[in-house]
Amino acid sequence: MRKKVSIIGAGQVGTIAALQTLAAKLADVVLIDLMDGLAKGKTLDLQQAAALMQSDCAITGGNDYDLTTGSDVVVITAGIPRQPGMSRADLLATNARIVKSVMAEIITRSPEAILLMVTNPLDAICAIAQKASGFPAQRVIGMGGVLDGARMQSFIAQELGVSVKDVQACVIGVHGEQMLPLPRFSTVAGVPLTELLSPDKIQRIVERTVNGGAEIVAHLKTGSAFLAPGTSVAEMLKGILLDEKRIMPAAVCLQGEYGLRDIYLGVPVRIGSQGIEEIIQLRLDADELAQLQAGAQAISQMLAQFAME
Ligand code: APR
Repeated sequence: MRKKVSIIGAGQVGTIAALQTLAAKLADVVLIDLMDGLAKGKTLDLQQAAALMQSDCAITGGNDYDLTTGSDVVVITAGIPRQPGMSRADLLATNARIVKSVMAEIITRSPEAILLMVTNPLDAICAIAQKASGFPAQRVIGMGGVLDGARMQSFIAQELGVSVKDVQACVIGVHGEQMLPLPRFSTVAGVPLTELLSPDKIQRIVERTVNGGAEIVAHLKTGSAFLAPGTSVAEMLKGILLDEKRIMPAAVCLQGEYGLRDIYLGVPVRIGSQGIEEIIQLRLDADELAQLQAGAQAISQMLAQFAME
């Protein structure tokens, strides 16, 4: 029997995530949105796209959460996207409320599901979703590093004029302005980036990666990136549903790794059918570790401030 993935939020990211899931023939898909017509209309469009892609995976949708019953993975994109000039912290109050209401619908219908969180501000939202769902942290995972890594990967490939296939980029930490691209752990055909490009050029790639989302927002004027985010969701779904045991960055609840405890942050993990199967500890230098911990502190502060309001 095919696996079942429910995607909550039939907006820009949810739609591309659904399209890529169908294209890769990963699972039957359920698309849910507060706006019934939006989900139903997109469901029909996706069903017809699936026919063109020779995909027999089923797609259903609407505003009825009963459709999601028994999902293997639930992807949460419901929320409002970041507007130009809006910080990720500004988003928290609104999106936390939305995510909590979604959790209430999901936990009884799919108690064994893995939750793949996409709604921003990601790391804080993961913590809120984990608490609201009561699911083990191993099954509440955030999509951030795969997207940030893809951005860095594309910039490295462009700079060096090499295939993206040969580039591995490593970005950890907060999914936001305080993210931590790691040139020492980014490689081209196994060679560290630090041996291939000057410090200046690396710095430019790092900065463009950190500003990757904002650069797109500035062009679009309204809304934010969705093609790479939706595709990143499908990449993570592949890792989970096909039990690939891939090593990819994800927002996970740290339990002492990197000197951090009970805080969601992006780090490399081994991902498979059980969700997070291992948290991988890179040997960071003092500066990298300090930056990672500063990011963690910012998230803690954001959550503490939120709890007080
Ligand atoms: N239940 C279900 N769907 C909801 C709810 C809710 N309570 N609240 C909002 N939605 C839906 C909206 O109706 C909308 O269709 O979530 C969808 C969000 O889609 P977009 O506005 O297009 O946003 P998108 O660009 O897809 O981004 C979604 O992912 O990358 C993050 O920062 C981004 O938090 C944002 C999220």
